[in-house]
Amino acid sequence: MSSSEELHKRRLAVVAKGVGSVVSAYVDHAGGGTLTDVDGREWIDFASGIAVTNVGNAAPKVVEAVRAQVERFTHTCFMVAPYESYVAVCEQLIELTPGTFEKRAALFNSGAEAVENAVKIARHATGRPAVVVFDHAYHGRTNLTMALTAKNMPYKHRFGPFAPEVYRAPMSYPLRDGGLSGAEAARRAVDVIEKQVGGSNVAAVLIEPIQGEGGFVVPAPGFLPAIAAWAKANGAVFIADEIQTGFGRTGQWFASEHEGLEPDLITTAKGMGGGLPIAGVAGRAELMDAVHAGGLGGTYGGNPVACAAALAAIETMRELDLNTAAQRIGATLTAALADTGPGVAEVRGRGAMIAIELVIPGTIEPDPTRTAAVSKACHEAGLLTLTCGTYGNVLRFLPPLVISDEDLNRGIDILRRALLT
Ligand SMILES: Cc1ncc(COP(=O)(O)O)c(C=O)c1O
Repeated sequence: MSSSEELHKRRLAVVAKGVGSVVSAYVDHAGGGTLTDVDGREWIDFASGIAVTNVGNAAPKVVEAVRAQVERFTHTCFMVAPYESYVAVCEQLIELTPGTFEKRAALFNSGAEAVENAVKIARHATGRPAVVVFDHAYHGRTNLTMALTAKNMPYKHRFGPFAPEVYRAPMSYPLRDGGLSGAEAARRAVDVIEKQVGGSNVAAVLIEPIQGEGGFVVPAPGFLPAIAAWAKANGAVFIADEIQTGFGRTGQWFASEHEGLEPDLITTAKGMGGGLPIAGVAGRAELMDAVHAGGLGGTYGGNPVACAAALAAIETMRELDLNTAAQRIGATLTAALADTGPGVAEVRGRGAMIAIELVIPGTIEPDPTRTAAVSKACHEAGLLTLTCGTYGNVLRFLPPLVISDEDLNRGIDILRRALLT
């Protein structure tokens, strides 16, 4: 087998530069809380392929279900000849997403595609054009979702023009908004929406309950319910983008549950498929069913192999009680990072979605240089971590929810050493 170095050389000759990688070690196999590269080096996984392998890599039930499905059939296109597993995944989405109202669901391939479809549904159902999103938001890399995403580099730079009728409101970001309460931050956002867009023009308010790429920003308590209440009062669809936060990541099936939210529509992807590409939109039947037959879909959406993987992943989450596991991982990480020095302005997040924001000590000035250095030190010591944040100064930790205590603690030791030396 080729070494990582050889593979990297081959890659440079054929793979477009625009596709980056966090590390240049090439994976040979992975499972539980670790990855092993082609040079035989083991990595502790605090990334989960960006919050995807919640049930672990190559989770036994997922492997078994995928194997059985590929032997039966690999693709028919649900829009051509339907099959049971698509219906079963929609049943699971309807059961697991918050809200006791009547729901419907539809399946897609990626998070961005789910978000695009949620916006399509909201616009169609309301007959309105405007979509409200927030500072620091990340919703994907397609044309509409680039417009919905806040950050220019690397996501939007020179890729415009972007889709119109997208309006950005200020987010509740407790560390950086002068300590506004949730209610105050919501009033500030609503003021912008009402003055700049007008409530009656808003098809949808789209928000991540905890922002992912934007820096694991947890809004002040009360912000999300107040925004949801405004949407309801103004006839706008409240969409929770739970692509990163969903399926046990935050210690509940969906992060909306932490504040008792019942979003009109929820977008899901990532953790849902146990590593296979699948995404969904689930929500109020009257919105979902407003769209004419044939208006939603795509060749591969809800592919049978991905559906089999999703059903097995969800079964694994239930059997292993991964919501509780996420809470335990979060408590361990939070406690271990509490005393990591004055440059750590905040340890935040929920469940196994924890981050630290690094600043110049004594200020809240972002410190992206140190963030990159700590990240590099972690990688050199065999811990796979990711950075994020509008200012590039947030280190985020997303271990698989099946990580062993031993691997979690080994990872924490590396991280603490990188922060404290
Ligand atoms: C909150 C959120 N929305 C949308 C997306 C886009 O998902 P995908 O990369 O599957 O298109 C992501 C991906 O990181 C995300 O975190």
